[in-house]
Amino acid sequence: MKTVLVTGAGGYIGSVLVPKLLDKGYQVIAIDRFFFGMDKLQSHENLTVIKEDTRRIKEEYFAGVDAVIDLVAISNDPSGEVFHEATYEINHLSRVNTASIAKRLGVKRYILPSSCSIYGFQETGVVVNEQATTNPLTTYAKANEKAELDILPLADADFTAVIMRQATVFGYSPRMRFDLAINGMTYGAWETGVIPLMRDGSQWRPMVHVQDTTDVMCILLEADQEKINGQIFNVGSHNYQLGQLAEEIVKALPIEVNIEWYGDADHRSYKVNFDKIESTLHWRAKYTAADGAKEIYDALITGKLTKDDQTITLKWYEELAKWHKIIKEREMYGGIIMGISS
Ligand SMILES: NC(=O)c1ccc[n+]([C@@H]2O[C@H](COP(=O)([O-])OP(=O)(O)OC[C@H]3O[C@@H](n4cnc5c(N)ncnc54)[C@H](O)[C@@H]3O)[C@@H](O)[C@H]2O)c1
Repeated sequence: MKTVLVTGAGGYIGSVLVPKLLDKGYQVIAIDRFFFGMDKLQSHENLTVIKEDTRRIKEEYFAGVDAVIDLVAISNDPSGEVFHEATYEINHLSRVNTASIAKRLGVKRYILPSSCSIYGFQETGVVVNEQATTNPLTTYAKANEKAELDILPLADADFTAVIMRQATVFGYSPRMRFDLAINGMTYGAWETGVIPLMRDGSQWRPMVHVQDTTDVMCILLEADQEKINGQIFNVGSHNYQLGQLAEEIVKALPIEVNIEWYGDADHRSYKVNFDKIESTLHWRAKYTAADGAKEIYDALITGKLTKDDQTITLKWYEELAKWHKIIKEREMYGGIIMGISS
């Protein structure tokens, strides 16, 4: 595998993955609409950046491509509910189209970064493996499942298709997301000394560090075809009860932090089994929640990280939609106050 096409390359996971691939010597074609700005990827001699909507992906982008990592998505539950149709178009249909074009044009490998959220609610005590019955509860989770169901059958001897069901990701990224559990809790602890926690704290959630999940993507690029083709892998390190997770963050930080409970009891709870990836690919996560909390805390105190609207995915998409309308109503001759050619 020499040339990798990455969609959603300017996102939270993509902006960690792309430099990692470049460090490993890959040529990378990074495709994104760059909703979060084009400054998240540093230029590099082996990096080609294409500003494009994956719903309009063109065959010419696949020239010389050996593998695709299809990260593109409206990437969380709340955004999926607000931008319902776009979520199906992007997370489901555009990814099926990208995988189909890749196969038709002779790309050898396709990796779909899906989500453990497709397990949805599970009975207490159940630990789900890849064979478990899924229970997608949200538009985001349903679109991911549809993508999985349509893409997996494309796998054959000439086209390796593999699915990663990622746990909730945490850790530092150039396109930071504070709408993810560990990242958001750490920010709250740093800013106010309080971690807001949804009752009753016994809900289970699997977690994985962004460096760990991007390591898995690199492993899947090179893994033996017979080990991964047509397979689904749960990708995560630990399952945490949210109360326990908050306690770990409190312990990891060098400041006094309190937990503040809010809301009604949250019944969404799922515990995920990661044996398959550990036994098949001999992969084990390197980072714990405490490592992630310390890393984010350090980045906050040194000013490497700040929280703005772009770090809360839904807030940013709503801002973009609002300003698009405002600007469209006022724009004339290609500009507003400035930028109007005489
Ligand atoms: N972050 C997590 O906790 C997590 C967990 C499980 C699965 N995932 C999956 O991993 C993938 C990446 O997640 P992320 O956290 O990096 O999300 P993100 O929102 O940070 O990144 C998504 C990227 O896709 C781009 N994009 C969106 N629509 C587009 C379109 N139509 N055309 C081109 N580009 C478009 C955005 O500009 C953004 O850069 C997603 O598929 C997500 O569902 C993420």
